[in-house]
Amino acid sequence: MEIAFLLNGEPVTVTDAAPTETLLDWLRERRGLKGTKEGCNEGDCGACTVMVTDDAGAKALNACILFLPQLEGKAVRTVEGLSGPAGEMHPVQDALVRHHGSQCGFCTPGFAVSMAVAHAQGDRATDDRVAGNLCRCTGYAPIVRAADAAAGVPVPDWIDDSAALAKVRGDHAPYRPESSDALAAAYAAEPDAVLVAGATDVGLWVTKQLRELDKVIFLDGCADLKGIDVSDTEIRFGAMVDMNRVREALAPHYPSYAEMIRRYGSYQVRGAATIGGNIANGSPIGDNPPPLIALGATLHLRKGDARRTMPVEEFFIDYGKQDLQPGEFLEAITVPLKPDLLKVYKLSKRFDQDISAVCGAFFITVEDGKVAQARIAFGGMAGTPKRATACETTLTGADWTEDGIAPAIAALAEDFSPLSDMRASSAYRLGTAQSMLVRAWAEDTGAATSVLGMAS
Ligand SMILES: Cc1cc2nc3c(=O)[nH]c(=O)nc-3n(C[C@H](O)[C@H](O)[C@H](O)COP(=O)(O)OP(=O)(O)OC[C@H]3O[C@@H](n4cnc5c(N)ncnc54)[C@H](O)[C@@H]3O)c2cc1C
Ligand code: FES
Ligand code: FES
Repeated sequence: MEIAFLLNGEPVTVTDAAPTETLLDWLRERRGLKGTKEGCNEGDCGACTVMVTDDAGAKALNACILFLPQLEGKAVRTVEGLSGPAGEMHPVQDALVRHHGSQCGFCTPGFAVSMAVAHAQGDRATDDRVAGNLCRCTGYAPIVRAADAAAGVPVPDWIDDSAALAKVRGDHAPYRPESSDALAAAYAAEPDAVLVAGATDVGLWVTKQLRELDKVIFLDGCADLKGIDVSDTEIRFGAMVDMNRVREALAPHYPSYAEMIRRYGSYQVRGAATIGGNIANGSPIGDNPPPLIALGATLHLRKGDARRTMPVEEFFIDYGKQDLQPGEFLEAITVPLKPDLLKVYKLSKRFDQDISAVCGAFFITVEDGKVAQARIAFGGMAGTPKRATACETTLTGADWTEDGIAPAIAALAEDFSPLSDMRASSAYRLGTAQSMLVRAWAEDTGAATSVLGMAS
């Protein structure tokens, strides 16, 4: 496998790396670029943040869970590459100095890169953009002040790698197919290979579980799996659409879902994590399945040339068991466009960048004061993401009042016997799910509710 990309403006070709060598290890151990730090090695702290540019623009990504083949044809800029050709500081570096945005400095390279990407994109939502960068000693106020100060300074031209991208190209077939057709053929030939999409799950198998993955197929080159098609009736997401793009596409149609995604990992995690990977991994606490089930979304699966579809809820058979045959992969997800009645609530121990203890999604239609239809789904309440069928049945036909929904709230105890784990006890999970239904009703009646209220 030969991987070619730009590193701080210079073309590099890697021929001697294992496909699961991380960019962080390669930068630090092989290139001696130690500005990119290793904190958690699992995508949580942002100390390893690098800028990665491809045809779609620049992203801030965590190098610790990025495998080298995911960089093919792209441009990587580390903190060493932020400054100008004559050594002049990037505006965010200059602002961090002037606003005292660094104390011990361990987190600073990661912050500088996250801020430089946001600066290049003109994104002033600094709280969101650095939520995935952990600083243990400076405190965030000077860092946010620095980002605000840098916002008025023009983007330096040396930071834009987009013009040089076409010049790099490695040789990597069949591990990195460049279309879904090529992927279908490669996976049919090697059905025991591990598919790697954004590697925000698979990366941890390597860095934390120290698993050796003999056969891997990278999906990143399949441009036709990265499309978003919006019609009058549905949005079709290619399986490789990352969660930042999913959030943008959903915002005008289902704002509650989009707001939940703001708390899905961090900007860096969402830039790598794909909607397909989140569904395919079958996690009971994945955040997409509950709203997709509540909306009645459809999965599009492919094996060789054969394709089939199924409602999302039927995909999850049991804990760790999904309806995927050997050699079959997820190609796309279609989300129906309906009137915006969707409410999605994510409860986690920490507001930003934390896995859900419970995620609830409610699509409830009310006519003449009574519930005409209810689709309700939860993550974190069972071994799979699951519909609350007893609750839905009890709710249908009930008065849409606090008293009217009480039996449906009680019925949630028939639907779920949740586990106790480090995130929440069984009783807390059930009580929380019940409170979420009350919240859906309260919000519908005009009461002021905020996702911030669910943070603690
Ligand atoms: C710091 C951190 C925070 C996180 N926070 C959240 C969170 O808030 N909410 C949440 O839900 N998740 C969270 N996650 C988990 C993870 O980011 C998501 O599950 C993510 O969407 C997985 O997508 P991926 O593209 O990275 O998948 P990968 O890691 O590449 O793959 C995951 C699994 O899916 C398989 N796969 C991938 N694509 C396909 C396909 N097209 N067809 C068939 N199989 C496929 C892979 O073989 C693998 O088994 C977090 C992870 C990290 C590291
Ligand atoms: S080292 Fe913590 S996110 Fe990479
Ligand atoms: S300056 Fe010490 S961790 Fe941020």
